[in-house]
Amino acid sequence: MVKFAEFGVEAWLNRWEKQARYDISQSTIASMTLAELFQLTGDDLPSFLATATQMPENYGWIEGSPDFKTAVAKLYQQLSQTNILQTNGATGANLLAILALIEPGDHVIAEYPTYQQLYDGPKALGATVDFWHLHPETNWQPDLTELRRLLRPNTKLICLNNANNPTGTILSRDTLAAVVQLAARVGAYVLVDEVYQPFAAPQVVPIVDLYERGISTNSLSKTYSLPGLRIGWLASPDQHLINQVRKLRDYTMICGGVLNDQFATYALQHRETILARNRALIQANYASYQNWLQQEPLLSLQQPALVSTSFPRLAINEPTQAFCLKLLKATGVLLVPGEAFGQPGYVRLGYCAPQATLQAGLTRLSYFLHHPSV
Ligand SMILES: Cc1ncc(COP(=O)(O)O)c(C=O)c1O
Repeated sequence: MVKFAEFGVEAWLNRWEKQARYDISQSTIASMTLAELFQLTGDDLPSFLATATQMPENYGWIEGSPDFKTAVAKLYQQLSQTNILQTNGATGANLLAILALIEPGDHVIAEYPTYQQLYDGPKALGATVDFWHLHPETNWQPDLTELRRLLRPNTKLICLNNANNPTGTILSRDTLAAVVQLAARVGAYVLVDEVYQPFAAPQVVPIVDLYERGISTNSLSKTYSLPGLRIGWLASPDQHLINQVRKLRDYTMICGGVLNDQFATYALQHRETILARNRALIQANYASYQNWLQQEPLLSLQQPALVSTSFPRLAINEPTQAFCLKLLKATGVLLVPGEAFGQPGYVRLGYCAPQATLQAGLTRLSYFLHHPSV
């Protein structure tokens, strides 16, 4: 039987997020309403809906509409519609890629820590998974010599998250090129979950622009602030992989939904407008977060470029999970304890919450840190 481990971060959020008054745990850049999206673009939401609701609610374009695929293909240098499949979020894309590739006994290398699906997914399917560690001592950078040591003749897949949840680590073009060189030696695929776009240099180079066995997964959930649409995609130059995933889609999702496809396509067609909103938000929040960090001695963080997740260390004398629970109950502030990522002692702090939530959350967090008995 296939046995999946409990998904630490999702289980924590499912259990606690609706109880939070000041949710500074999330990695999405402040989610938008559809009304806000249309305010930003200046288009008329009622007219859009009037047209959209004329479409029959059948299964629509099974693999994603041609307009959706065209908008996605533009994000990559050399891909066309045939290289793209719509999925239920990036989680859907990751799962389908892993299901398509992994058989019991395969060897997989996964960046660690990261989004749990990327290592426990292959493990559940019977792969042996080795971690390519990000090291806290070097501000969560990996070491290529370690990857060289981990590589085996039967390495089937290397799973990366660029930029990384929770640490924010960005793998540069040079690092990715070195990964590709190693992967190509043994014919391994490289799956990169690219849901977090950094809003400062260096930008993430999509793996599909570097490697014919590269798989880029992405979605509207993080960089584009629309997780409720549940639309993502998988892109790859490798037509064999695309065909495998195409088959699996029929077993798992069929399609992404007619209305959701239309909103997702609209959002991607107005990508620059959304990115401008999010760049302004992340810059402003980053500045207040840094100011707060400077006067808060119990948290330490070397935050990389403007990526929407942050993973500070807490200088406290108790397990971070117990602390996070007490914090939530006493103040309504929600963080994700590092335990959810296998990294006790740290917390994921989502500083791209709406400004007012961030300010109130940080103030209460500081107060609680210094007056834990409240
Ligand atoms: C790396 C990573 N991939 C995927 C997801 C989920 O994405 P989606 O909402 O597109 O399924 C998350 C959410 O936290 C994530 O951190």
